[in-house]
Amino acid sequence: MARKFFVGGNWKCNGTTEEVKKIVTTLNEAEVPSEDVVEVVVSPPFVFLNFVKSLLRSDFHVAAQNCWVRKGGAFTGEISAEMLVNLSIPWVIIGHSERRALLKESNEFVGDKVAYALSQGLKVIACIGETLEERESGSTMAVVAAQTKAIADKVTNWDNVVLAYEPVWAIGTGKVATPAQAQDVHRELRKWLSENVSGAIAESTRIIYGGSVNGANCKELAAQPDVDGFLVGGASLKPEFVDIIKSAT
Ligand code: G3H
Repeated sequence: MARKFFVGGNWKCNGTTEEVKKIVTTLNEAEVPSEDVVEVVVSPPFVFLNFVKSLLRSDFHVAAQNCWVRKGGAFTGEISAEMLVNLSIPWVIIGHSERRALLKESNEFVGDKVAYALSQGLKVIACIGETLEERESGSTMAVVAAQTKAIADKVTNWDNVVLAYEPVWAIGTGKVATPAQAQDVHRELRKWLSENVSGAIAESTRIIYGGSVNGANCKELAAQPDVDGFLVGGASLKPEFVDIIKSAT
């Protein structure tokens, strides 16, 4: 079965109530391909999740930007997977490079989080990607394979996993990967999944690209055979997010 195009908007730590309403209004009024063609998920900060969910058109969905690694309890400041499920939040982003770098989330911790979130019934956008230093030293594939392995070691059912390849050097820098650079890594990741998980999982798992995607560069990236969509940061706060959704066709 063909992999359905996936477009995620990661709003990161941005927005006021008024700004959030404005973004949602733009999305609600947009004419985009149907849900059968493209799956659209936006990820506001926790405090706006329910508000966005209540306003957002029914063919778009919401994702949390993180959740706790195990059952909730005495973990001040954390949000548990159970709470997200209780609020009918279907998706969660896990392992974003900002959290890996700033909050020192290790590959193993990310793998544990992905597995726990899945076990509670959430769908997961699992992020991986190399730094500029790692790319320049030729270790891109070793890095992303190790990150993927830490997830694969803990996950038995990949149906609810979207893998987001986000090279750290491309995030928020305006320095997007070329379509060939993105395609090379996505193809190798699919090969890795085929060799280390299964051919069927490799064929069915969506591998999306993130890092300075915008309305101008999305078409060419979307045309790559192994690019199954995007995780968009900065441009997901702007009307051009609609153009990125439209790149599905
Ligand atoms: O999660 C999204 C990525 O960090 C990409 O962010 O589109 O602002 O580069 P960006």
